[in-house]
Amino acid sequence: MKARFPEGFIWGTATASYQIEGAAFEDGRGESIWDRFCRMPGRVAGGDRGDVACDHYHRYAEDVRIMAELGVDAYRFSIAWPRVFPTGKGRPNPKGLDFYKRLLDELDKAGIKPMATLYHWDLPQVLQEEYGGWVSRDVALYFRDYAAYVLEEIGERLSWVVTINEPWVAAMLGYGFGTHAPGIRDFKAAITAGHYLLYAHGLAVQVFREMNLPGQVGLALNLTPYYPHSDSAEDLAVARRMDGITNRWYLDAALKGKYPEDIVEWYNERKVMPDLPADDLKEIAQPIDFLGINYYTRGIVGHSDEDPCCVKEYPPEGPVTDMNWEVYPQGLYDLLTRLTRDYGAIPLYITENGAAYPDQAENGRVRDKARIDYLQAHFDAAARAIESGVPLRGYYIWSLLDNFEWAFGYSKRFGIVYVDYETQKRIIKDSGLWYRDFLRS
Ligand code: FCB
Repeated sequence: MKARFPEGFIWGTATASYQIEGAAFEDGRGESIWDRFCRMPGRVAGGDRGDVACDHYHRYAEDVRIMAELGVDAYRFSIAWPRVFPTGKGRPNPKGLDFYKRLLDELDKAGIKPMATLYHWDLPQVLQEEYGGWVSRDVALYFRDYAAYVLEEIGERLSWVVTINEPWVAAMLGYGFGTHAPGIRDFKAAITAGHYLLYAHGLAVQVFREMNLPGQVGLALNLTPYYPHSDSAEDLAVARRMDGITNRWYLDAALKGKYPEDIVEWYNERKVMPDLPADDLKEIAQPIDFLGINYYTRGIVGHSDEDPCCVKEYPPEGPVTDMNWEVYPQGLYDLLTRLTRDYGAIPLYITENGAAYPDQAENGRVRDKARIDYLQAHFDAAARAIESGVPLRGYYIWSLLDNFEWAFGYSKRFGIVYVDYETQKRIIKDSGLWYRDFLRS
């Protein structure tokens, strides 16, 4: 199977700061919206929080050794803004970036290329309190300052920079549904937040360009293909709208410099479309070197008169993971080929793909055959997409480690490496061993 991927194809694993680092209050790190959210009763399963997580802040060297053992080419991690600027702005905390410098040293020694995400959802709490978080243009400007500082300090060492991870999730779950930090329920605010996340992305790309850095810069989007429940005109329209809200909104803004008209109209009709400076779209649509795709599952939708948004989500038609997400590798193929068709030959990376299963360790072994099947089927879909002409350049498995899965706390295990949270012992799961053998083949 590996032979179906071109020479130089990048294989990696991915994580995010709040989900693995722990050391939440060490070395001057400021509070993030996730520290706060985890302390609001009932928001996170089990009352879990990222205070310790996988203790990666102290165990990063061991974690890099594990990656070296797996034989990955690259590692995608994120930088915690509140480590670098504890209040989001003002004076940087040098100890914050020192951690990432140590991590980069280890990766360098192991010959693993770094992909750093600048924002994977841990907004400094002060920016939430003083400005309302991402609904504020000022926060995007502070993000630019933060990006500039990070890139000045370590930009030369980064092979890839991802500006923002999943603006749809950060905006819609954080400000619309309120199931993620900061836990706000206001759709107009969510659309505004999505806009300033995109704007922050555009500003960071400009900063990156001004510095003439050797690496590449891009954006990571969660993309979910939506399929109509039937071929009735009504169901087709709902599938198209869901695609517009989740996918085209961000793709069109970042790659074409405009929001899709059908969705603007839909938002206007529902009176949730905020007044946004039209000129921002020029900044948002900075040319990027690659697009990162986080793909997990698909959606099946149809029309419903009962729902205020006229959407009915249908249950999965195939096997599901522990998230109750359908295993649907064909969706990855459909998505990749569609992106190339609709947005041209922009280089693509799968910046996240993987599955949660209720893994258990028995005598030092974790038998996660279902995850191997999941990965194998998705690798195959990716290979087929390449064979159809899609410029896919790399693939990062989510995740290296079991970790803090946001509102699900530690109850969902996505790792190819098992973490015993009591002892912090790591065990490479069967899927990790399978990945290692695949990489050697
Ligand atoms: C994505 C997130 C990532 C992880 C996976 C399962 O939406 O980017 O942090 O939680 O889902």
